[in-house]
Amino acid sequence: MERCSTSIPGFDNLVEGGFPKGSMILLTGAPGTGKTIFGLQYLYNGAMNGENGIYVCIESTPQSLKIQAARFGMDFDKLEKEGKVIFYQVPKDSRKFSIFKKIDEDSRKINAKRLVFDSLATLNILLGKFISLWDSGESKDDSSGSAKIQSSNINSFDRMVIANSIIEQLKPIGATTLLITYGSGGTERMSSDEASEFLCDGVVEFYNLPIGVKYSRSMRIGKMRSTKNSQYIHEFRISEKGIEVSPGEVRLFDE
Ligand SMILES: Nc1ncnc2c1ncn2[C@@H]1O[C@H](COP(=O)(O)OP(=O)(O)O)[C@@H](O)[C@H]1O
Ligand SMILES: [Mg+2]
Repeated sequence: MERCSTSIPGFDNLVEGGFPKGSMILLTGAPGTGKTIFGLQYLYNGAMNGENGIYVCIESTPQSLKIQAARFGMDFDKLEKEGKVIFYQVPKDSRKFSIFKKIDEDSRKINAKRLVFDSLATLNILLGKFISLWDSGESKDDSSGSAKIQSSNINSFDRMVIANSIIEQLKPIGATTLLITYGSGGTERMSSDEASEFLCDGVVEFYNLPIGVKYSRSMRIGKMRSTKNSQYIHEFRISEKGIEVSPGEVRLFDE
């Protein structure tokens, strides 16, 4: 099995050296838990080691992501000039869903092997909004390839259908893909659409939890197809180098 290593200190050991090549991996967790930083490091390390990549963003601008990355010593402007990475912001008011075509074209342009999609949750909401518009007759655009949804109110079933459609359209690109999403909060489901955790090949959950008088950052591998992954919760920190995962498991009591 070929592996796509993140080169994020301490992480690759948790998944037998890296994500299975070409797989779809869900990164999930509350806001501020480190998913975007993980995605930036994954893309940067890849591009520095001969695997070019694309960062698709919706809620943040490429400029703000690059500023965030620069804090950790990652110079994405340079990599972009060298044709090793592309940042693409999905236009929020776009009624034409040529986004998958655009990602496909960009990936051919730079022979992209890695893709980060930030975030699946927001794209789901965006597509849901437009599907309601089609149904109400406000927009006739039907180029997304998503399933036709009759209801003008997007319900949880619709969200599953949309998540499925997004993932199916990203698969043929063939890149090892990180899909960032949010947990649905208070339920056992790992994603807000309640489907992508089943559809993806792997899930990494991010936490920032109060332990004693401080918050502790940690992650666990929820699932990883074809991989004997770590069963522990791993503490990590965000230092000037970015994310560094502790090799040991979290021990709440030292007995
Ligand atoms: N330069 C930095 N040094 C240390 N921690 C940072 C730095 N920049 C951001 N952080 C921490 O990372 C968090 C944001 O991480 P991010 O990956 O954007 O979260 P998410 O994408 O999960 O919402 C911030 O809330 C902050 O606590
Ligand atoms: Mg983020």
